Amino acid sequence: MEKQYVSAAPAPECLPAHLGIIMDGNGRWAEKKGLPRSAGHTAGAAVFKKITRYASSIGIRYLTVYAFSTENWSRPQEEVGALMILFKKYLQDSLRDFRNDDIKVRFIGDTSKFSPDLKKLIEETREVCKDRTGMVLNIAMNYGGRAEIVNAVHEIAENVQKGMLIPEEIDEKLISSYMDTAGQPDPDLIIRPSGEHRISNFLLWQSAYTEYVTMDILWPDFVPGNLNWALQEYVHRNRRFGGV
Ligand code: IPE
Ligand code: IPE
Ligand code: MG
Repeated sequence: MEKQYVSAAPAPECLPAHLGIIMDGNGRWAEKKGLPRSAGHTAGAAVFKKITRYASSIGIRYLTVYAFSTENWSRPQEEVGALMILFKKYLQDSLRDFRNDDIKVRFIGDTSKFSPDLKKLIEETREVCKDRTGMVLNIAMNYGGRAEIVNAVHEIAENVQKGMLIPEEIDEKLISSYMDTAGQPDPDLIIRPSGEHRISNFLLWQSAYTEYVTMDILWPDFVPGNLNWALQEYVHRNRRFGGV
């Protein structure tokens, strides 16, 4: 199997402005080691921290990580519970650890469905980060691309009903401005580790012309050199956007 590892990152001017990562393979990593799936999520959270810092250090401007999908609620209650505990711990730690990092944490997805204490931490994190100017980190939690589009359609319909918008004004630019990623560039590259080759409801509207790189490695084993490899793949892609 190809090693999918490169020691250095491409030059900053070649990097994707917006990188998406589907952090997949935690469960299988744990099962392979005879551990409970939650141990895989704990290991995955540590990798998430490391890769976030690394992405910021090499000059990525926007990073969106898929942490929990709208469909992940269907997992066994025990696993969902373990994930919620981990999210709380991650946010508590990152409020401390990222205090001196210039990383602007944002949340995409419907965070209203989380417990009051998790929602409070989400608010605190937003508040602490609001004036930061470094890399934007979007954490997709209870996120689904379809749900995001449905919410946008609701809001647009309400604004038409209130007379604040006329149907003729609805174009691609306006729809983008109703998405959770409003004001941000569309992702240039999405990476999915774990050997799956599907999008699983991630950034559906935004990824119309995104380059997609899938990797064999499981997320808890992912190191900066693996990110460099994916970035190198991206650099060699010929993006045509429907042109010639
Ligand atoms: C990704 O890892 C983390 C979440 C979806 C929360 P998985 O838990 O999907 O791991 P696999 O795909 O079962 O190995
Ligand atoms: C996508 O992974 C969601 C996250 C990584 C958070 P899943 O493991 O839920 O996706 P499927 O079930 O393999 O499509
Ligand atoms: Mg999975």
